[in-house]
Amino acid sequence: MEPFARDALPGRVVLGAGAAEDTVPAGAAQAAREEAVTAEVLASFGGADAPRYREIMESLVRHLHAFAREVRLTETEWQQGIDFLTRAGHITDDRRQEFILLSDVLGLSMLTVAINAPASAGATEATVVGPFFVAGAPEVPLGGDIAGGAKGRPCYVSGAVRGTGGEPVPGARIEVWESDEDGFYDVQYPDGRIGGRGWLRSAPDGGYRFWSVRPAPYPIPDDGPVGDLLTWAGRGPMRPAHLHFKVDAPGYRTLITHIFVAGDPYLDRDAVFGVKESLITDFAEHPPGRGPDGRLSDEPWTSVTFDIVLARLPPVPQAPGI
Ligand code: BEZ
Ligand code: FE
Repeated sequence: MEPFARDALPGRVVLGAGAAEDTVPAGAAQAAREEAVTAEVLASFGGADAPRYREIMESLVRHLHAFAREVRLTETEWQQGIDFLTRAGHITDDRRQEFILLSDVLGLSMLTVAINAPASAGATEATVVGPFFVAGAPEVPLGGDIAGGAKGRPCYVSGAVRGTGGEPVPGARIEVWESDEDGFYDVQYPDGRIGGRGWLRSAPDGGYRFWSVRPAPYPIPDDGPVGDLLTWAGRGPMRPAHLHFKVDAPGYRTLITHIFVAGDPYLDRDAVFGVKESLITDFAEHPPGRGPDGRLSDEPWTSVTFDIVLARLPPVPQAPGI
């Protein structure tokens, strides 16, 4: 059954033909009764010690209650929402995070990115981190291979890390992760091996280079409640092919982003709204032969160039007298 179908909503009083509304209109007394609930809950947070906690909770209550009033939430729908969240909890474990996935498909993750990584003139745009970043990826030397056995066409990735003033950023920590050609991240492999992830440092001139595999489009995990949500909306689970980057350098804002493969069929319908025009990048295809670093490939290979521009952090104010 389609969730939240109108005919499945007991508690709603349907009026006869010709009525202006299809439910009993809420009169002034009803509105006052509802507002009283909201006011009582708001007041319950008034004694919170931490001002930021109080601000967030009061705003959450105001918006949540306004939402319930706006859609005239029925008890059946409330229960369906609770069941949905319960399923999300049951499927979540150390390797599967259904709540982040829910935030992603509702666009909350990208909105939070937009709020916290405001466009800084010339800096590379940020996008979602996603659930497949894991700490402890192996370090690879400059020019090394992060594939670690992940299947896919070899891909040479190179570029430079610079600040928005054009200055090279040497020693930046560049962490990358991606799926294999079948659309699986290593954390989805049953045998626990590491592949398609690693980190390296930029050279003294800010340059970086490494081998990897050509990214492939893949579906976000859609065998749980978030997958149902997408199906009910007539939306697909696919993400366009991309390679994740996390770049840290002292004095600069940490950048979490991806590059997307130009021409990918899913660029205009990313399930998590992560695509930015500026991150769509040309991947060049090459016949078997030597790569830019002299490495011999006996199969076709791919290359991409991506310059990373970091925003400066504001200077830390010095304490008086230091
Ligand atoms: C990812 O790109 O790895 C990803 C992002 C959001 C949800 C699922 C996967
Ligand atoms: Fe990804």
